[in-house]
Amino acid sequence: MENYTDDMMPDAAYSDPDLKRNLPGAEDAPLQEPDRQYYFIEKCRQWAERFAVEHGQCPRSCVVNYGCQMNARDSEKLAGILDQMGFEKSAEEEADFVIMNTCTVRENANLKVYGRLGVLKARKQKNPHMLIALCGCMMQEPKVVEKIKKSYRFVDLIFGTHNIYRFAELLYARLSGDGMVVDIWKDTDKIVENLPADRKYFFKSGVNIMFGCNNFCSYCIVPYVRGRERSRRPLEILREIENLAADGVVEVMLLGQNVNSYGKNLDTLVSFAELLRQVEAVPGISRIRFMTSHPKDLSDELIQTMANSEKICRHMHLPLQSGSSRLLKIMNRHYTKEQYLALVDKLRAVMPDISLTTDIIVGFPGETEEDFQETLDVVRKARFDSAFTFIYSRRTGTPAAAMEDQVPEDVVKDRFDRLLAEVQEIAKKTCARLEGQTQPVLVEEINAQDARLVTGRLSNNLLVHFPGDASLIGKIVDVELTQCRGFYYLGNQR
Ligand code: 5AD
Ligand code: SF4
Repeated sequence: MENYTDDMMPDAAYSDPDLKRNLPGAEDAPLQEPDRQYYFIEKCRQWAERFAVEHGQCPRSCVVNYGCQMNARDSEKLAGILDQMGFEKSAEEEADFVIMNTCTVRENANLKVYGRLGVLKARKQKNPHMLIALCGCMMQEPKVVEKIKKSYRFVDLIFGTHNIYRFAELLYARLSGDGMVVDIWKDTDKIVENLPADRKYFFKSGVNIMFGCNNFCSYCIVPYVRGRERSRRPLEILREIENLAADGVVEVMLLGQNVNSYGKNLDTLVSFAELLRQVEAVPGISRIRFMTSHPKDLSDELIQTMANSEKICRHMHLPLQSGSSRLLKIMNRHYTKEQYLALVDKLRAVMPDISLTTDIIVGFPGETEEDFQETLDVVRKARFDSAFTFIYSRRTGTPAAAMEDQVPEDVVKDRFDRLLAEVQEIAKKTCARLEGQTQPVLVEEINAQDARLVTGRLSNNLLVHFPGDASLIGKIVDVELTQCRGFYYLGNQR
């Protein structure tokens, strides 16, 4: 039986030819997913057992995550599969198997990966049994894969964003052959459900509700590396959340590149607001967050659903990108400065306590001082609780990369510094508005600096540090917010 046919890898841009043959010892692998992957998990587990006998201990693995919440969730899935294979989790320095889940949204994310690979190379020279895998968004760029194939021959396995569910199969392919295994797909319409995940926190979890993006903002590489928008079916999402709740999860973060357009490609149309109402009905879930919203698709129905909800957190991350309507048009964002500000007003009118955060890019091609002043104007008017500010990074293949009037570095740096100062000044004041109030806080961990304190999160996403111990972790407790220290609070449990 031919297990690896062209048919099964319709868009394999870089497939190791070996993957198209039967893998040794896996001739009876099921063709159905996820059964097929569970089969290969078992095969890898047998390998891990042999490793343990040979080395006197289980193989240790470490998933290094770069990038956004979507990537973080993917890393939890990889860790869950490794756990079932019998790998022990370890620090990167001790790992027999290092997997880097990469990001490519800005150039410096890529540079970090190459830097880390240099370190791993030296380590692998000392420990030749070490395995190194690369996956995630950066691997969807043909140029990157070519470079690794040529200059980083010590890498064992490369796969992309669309076939991450096939991790076990690909690892088995590497373990049962020799040489680098490379499998990258250009796109997929497939969503494979019911694979394991190893959550970083027992009480909260990300939940993918959709994959990919159709927006094609002119600066952004994401649609090219994450493919077209695909929504998971509500039933699958709800089943996952019910299982998470049964497993002790009280907070879920619904994840998608543009959650406001959730459901548009489903057989029966379900809006994001409707999905939120269904998630709200799941017993045991106390808090619901979501990420990320595109202003162009933010509906009145969603605002009302949030306002009526006891569980949806009072936080909206609403990327602005630029305050200049002229640039927003070139960025292909489909809203103007005025429409963005009207949305902010609408949200605040219905939910005065809502926290608004945003992303802003400085130095988009052709940005003038006037354009930049428009951005500062929106920052002053919207009064964000926090803003992630980015220096424009030219991403090969995007329309903006080909634009001629790239802004000189020193001008960008100067604007960036001015923007940051403004954002921070405003955020300090905006964040302090809850001082003196008592608010519910979900306790997340022991404070990293002072073990007598715990750190928790408010509904509006701000952090609070207050005296407490490990028994509070995962619980929602009332905390008096005694003092705002810029971007976090100090408090006392009530
Ligand atoms: N340069 C700088 N920032 C970018 N972002 C996306 N693409 C780029 C780019 N080419 C930012 C946007 C987005 C966030 C996740 O990353 O602000 O909202
Ligand atoms: Fe980075 Fe975007 Fe990929 Fe997230 S989806 S890891 S931000 S490139």
